[in-house]
Amino acid sequence: MSDLFSKVTECVDAIAERTHGFAPKVAVILGSGLGEFADSFEEKQVIPYFELPHFPSSSVQGHAGRLVLGKIEGQKVAAMQGRVHFYEGYAPWQVAFPTRVLCAMKINALVVTNAAGGINLSFKVGDLMTITDHLNLTGWNPLVGSNDERFGPRFPDLSRIYDPALQKLLGACAAQDGVTLRQGVYVGLSGPSYETPAEIRMLRQMGADAVGMSTVPEVITAAHMGVKVAGISCITNLAAGIGDAPLSHAEVSETADKVKPVFGRLLRRFLPKVAV
Ligand code: HPA
Repeated sequence: MSDLFSKVTECVDAIAERTHGFAPKVAVILGSGLGEFADSFEEKQVIPYFELPHFPSSSVQGHAGRLVLGKIEGQKVAAMQGRVHFYEGYAPWQVAFPTRVLCAMKINALVVTNAAGGINLSFKVGDLMTITDHLNLTGWNPLVGSNDERFGPRFPDLSRIYDPALQKLLGACAAQDGVTLRQGVYVGLSGPSYETPAEIRMLRQMGADAVGMSTVPEVITAAHMGVKVAGISCITNLAAGIGDAPLSHAEVSETADKVKPVFGRLLRRFLPKVAV
């Protein structure tokens, strides 16, 4: 079996061949219900994940995910419509694999987005939050195992993992649309069950503002490869125990659907600025 570095290289080469050397300057991973954004790219090239070597794709779900390459305001961007999660049964290296591929394409920055439950009591359903930092409570780390120095160091620094300049730029872009971005700490758990109210109280005391089941492994992987990160959470629901209603994926999807236009406008402003 070839090593991970060779697998990543093989996938990057396959994308380059398929797209005639298209080289995105920024990449975005689109979270639950937010994938549609990439449909508006200009000069779009779409590659289903299952056509890419070693790329994890779920054959169970109706649509297994697609890599979309194209332009916004003339700037080259890449987007992942759909991601895989640890709770689906993928190995850590597989969850991290798409991020490795994107980062190996020499992008300026990786933008991660997700649907998240609001833990901070001042958050409202439908808010967008700039991720300022995270808590990794997934119980695992994508870098466990032997380290390949060609990717990065054994012990990567995470102290400024969410790039402060990109956070500022995100805020400025939102302000142009009159949108107030919340700021906060994202806590990543493995899922797939939602949290208990007791867990949410604990997470709030630990300093978390929003909770989800993705993003953290991708961000750690990008940090390993020295790629800057910006993160946006869409607060799709109040976390367990805050409201009266039980949590459901239907509510998450419904909110994401409503927030889509605002979210799309924000990314449309932000991504070209990061690409230059
Ligand atoms: N908890 C965990 N993951 C989530 C939530 C939540 O409340 N909402 C959306 N993803």
